[in-house]
Amino acid sequence: MNTDRVAQLLLGWYSLHYRPLPWRTEPTPYHVWVSEIMLQQTRIEAALPYYRRFITALPDVESLASAPEDRLLKLWEGLGYYSRARNLQKAAKVLVSEYGGQLPADYDHLLSLPGIGAYTAGAIASIAYSIPVPAVDGNVMRVLARLTDNHTDVLSTEGKRVFTDLAWQLVPEREPGRFNQALMELGETICVPGTPRCSQCPLQDECAAYKNGCADQLPVRIKKVDRRVEHRTVALVRVENSPPAVLLHRRPDTGLLAGLWELPNTLDEDPLCSLPPEIAAMCKTVEALPAAKHLFSHIEWRLSGSMYSIPTLTTLPDSYQIATLAELHTAYPLPGAFRAYTALFPRLLDEES
Ligand code: ADE
Repeated sequence: MNTDRVAQLLLGWYSLHYRPLPWRTEPTPYHVWVSEIMLQQTRIEAALPYYRRFITALPDVESLASAPEDRLLKLWEGLGYYSRARNLQKAAKVLVSEYGGQLPADYDHLLSLPGIGAYTAGAIASIAYSIPVPAVDGNVMRVLARLTDNHTDVLSTEGKRVFTDLAWQLVPEREPGRFNQALMELGETICVPGTPRCSQCPLQDECAAYKNGCADQLPVRIKKVDRRVEHRTVALVRVENSPPAVLLHRRPDTGLLAGLWELPNTLDEDPLCSLPPEIAAMCKTVEALPAAKHLFSHIEWRLSGSMYSIPTLTTLPDSYQIATLAELHTAYPLPGAFRAYTALFPRLLDEES
């Protein structure tokens, strides 16, 4: 990619298409800061009346720092995330006490203020102070993923690193603030999620995903699944036969791990509840099992339990079986969910033990 050309094309496009928003026509550090915090939770059109009201009521860092909290929260009412308003005021107090009421013209100092992360620090530094640092939000990541046809998951830590590195390479020394805003504006109006408007895009000739015909498949966003957490207790029952054996249970033919063998387990706090009562009655506790965790696609098992010993078992209820170490290797492979406990088998079921 020709980075100079990308910057040139983008800035040319921005000159013609930018929206004259109040924080752009008067980009003081304070205006940029307040607008960027508001824009983290609201679309530009929706933020505008809030922005105007806020700046009229609290026109500078000092007035924000000294505003009564209920007045501040009233001005924020409807925007949600009140912690953002509280952080604005916390940071304003720091600015008054440590920076003479000014936002520092330094990326790292900005980053150290309450409520200011990499994106906001980058936006203030570049837009208000022309410091060549990137401001990478979701719009920018989408544009960059398409421009470079990069399929790294933008929701992952790795994706944030990859696209932030790319943005550092792209941001020009001249007009970094206009460049950053142009990238965001392109993402908001042309390089939109889903089907981008490539025919109107100034970067079409430079765009790898456009060339490869996959712009509409980017960016890759892998949502973390919400897993239901189940606390299960496991009964690891050693049967003192010769050779020693372990008690297994066969799971039902439907559902999770259907038809597979497992260590008896239950949602009850007492692992013995996983056993038929006549077997539970014979169990002598040997020791507690270490805690373990296993992730299925939609369930997370948090396992704990106990090891028990019983003399022998002559009859076995339906769906129970006992297995020696050799049989566990050949006839009864247990699901990986029990790996933390099957790892104990060699020590536990060795005839010498
Ligand atoms: N979205 C958030 N901040 C923005 C900005 N400064 N310009 C364009 N879009 C934005």
